[in-house]
Amino acid sequence: MSSLPDFDRFGDQIVYYKSSEDMKEIKNSSIDVIVTSPPYNRSKTYSDDEGNVYDDQKSESEFQAFLAQVWSECYRVLSPQGMFFVNVGDSANNQGFSSSIAKTIPKSGFIRLQTIIWLKSFLGRGHYTPSGRSRRLNNIFEYIFVFVKNRKTYRMNPQAIGIPYADKSNIGRYAKSDLRDAGNVWFIPYSRTTGSTIKKGHEAPFPIELPYRCIKLTDAGSVLDPFAGTGSTLTAARILNIKGIGYEKFPRREVIRQRITEHQFFPQPVNLIPHLEQTIQKFGEISRSVSFDMLLEANFFSFTKKEYNELRIVQDVLDNLRQDSTLFTDYMNYYNLYIEKTEQLDKRIELTKFFDNSPK
Ligand SMILES: C[S@@+](CC[C@H](N)C(=O)[O-])C[C@H]1O[C@@H](n2cnc3c(N)ncnc32)[C@H](O)[C@@H]1O
Repeated sequence: MSSLPDFDRFGDQIVYYKSSEDMKEIKNSSIDVIVTSPPYNRSKTYSDDEGNVYDDQKSESEFQAFLAQVWSECYRVLSPQGMFFVNVGDSANNQGFSSSIAKTIPKSGFIRLQTIIWLKSFLGRGHYTPSGRSRRLNNIFEYIFVFVKNRKTYRMNPQAIGIPYADKSNIGRYAKSDLRDAGNVWFIPYSRTTGSTIKKGHEAPFPIELPYRCIKLTDAGSVLDPFAGTGSTLTAARILNIKGIGYEKFPRREVIRQRITEHQFFPQPVNLIPHLEQTIQKFGEISRSVSFDMLLEANFFSFTKKEYNELRIVQDVLDNLRQDSTLFTDYMNYYNLYIEKTEQLDKRIELTKFFDNSPK
C-alpha cells in the first residue's frame, strides 16, 4: 500500500484518500453544498496509481448499508442552509437503479426537493455510451436528485444560472435583472477532452459544468464530494474560487492533481442557447466553406454526410427559433441563407436516392 500521506492539498482544495463512510475531518454543519455521484456496485474494478486493483462489489444489503453510512455523514456535515445534489444514471440493463439509490437518501434525514435531468446529448450533439443495440433507445440523460436538510432554511438562487428573458417586459415583474430560472433540464454535453485518458480505472467523470452549476445555484462558499473520482467537483470549486473537500478511496493521484490544478473550463451559457449559437456558428463555417456557385451549378454531392447532418440540426433549431421573435429576427439572415441551401440539399437527396447512394 501507499506510503504517501493520505491526502493532497491543492490550494483551497483538499482530497482525502480514504472511505467517506467516516468524514471526521469535517465539522458538523460546516459545508454549504454537496455534489456527488456514487459508485454503482456493479462488479466494477478500480485501480490506483500503484496498479493495485480492487473489486469493490458488495452484496445488495452491504451496499445499502454502505450508502446509508455515507449519506448520514453527509447529513451531519451539511449546513441547514445547504443543498445536496446526487447524480445517478440508469444503466441499459438496470432501469430503475437511479430511483433505488434516491430512495436510500431520505432515510438519513434529507428531504427530497426535486429532480434535475442532465441531458448529455441533444439533436445529435454530445457524447453518450450507446446502450440500445436496436432493442431499446439509447440512454441520453441521467438524473440529479436534489435534497435539502431543512425545507425552510435552504438557500438557492436560480438566477445565478439563469437565462435572459425572451419577453423583456417580464424584467421587473418577476425579477430585477434580465435573468430567469432556466428550469430543471440541463443540457451539458461532454467536452471532447473528457474521455478514456481521464477515466483510467474510474467510472465516467461528470463534466465540470455539472458541479459548477450546482455550486453557482447555491452561491456556496464550500463544497464536498464524498466520491471524488477524478476531482471534477473540486475542479469546479477551484474555478469558482471556493473551498472544496473530496474523499476518494481508490485514487489516481496524478489524474486528480492534473484535473484540479490545470483543467481549463469555460462555462457555457445555459440550455439551448449555446447549442443554438454553436449551430449558427457551424452554419456560418459551412456556408463559407461551400460556395453558392457550386450549389447553384447543381453540384449536389458537395456536402459530406457530416455537413449534411449539421445542416439538419440547423434546420431544427431555426424552426424552433421562429417561435421566439427576438432571437428569430437576429438570425433571419442566416435562415434565408439556409433555406436556399436546403432547397439545393433536397434536390441532392432526390438525386442521390436515384443513384441509390443516399446519405443515411
Ligand atoms: C461514479 S465515480 C465518481 C466520479 C466523479 N464524479 C468524477 O467526476 O470523476 C464514484 C467514485 O467513488 C469512489 N469510491 C468508491 N467507494 C468509495 C468509498 N468508500 N469512499 C470514497 N470513494 C469511494 C470510486 O473509486 C469512484 O471514483
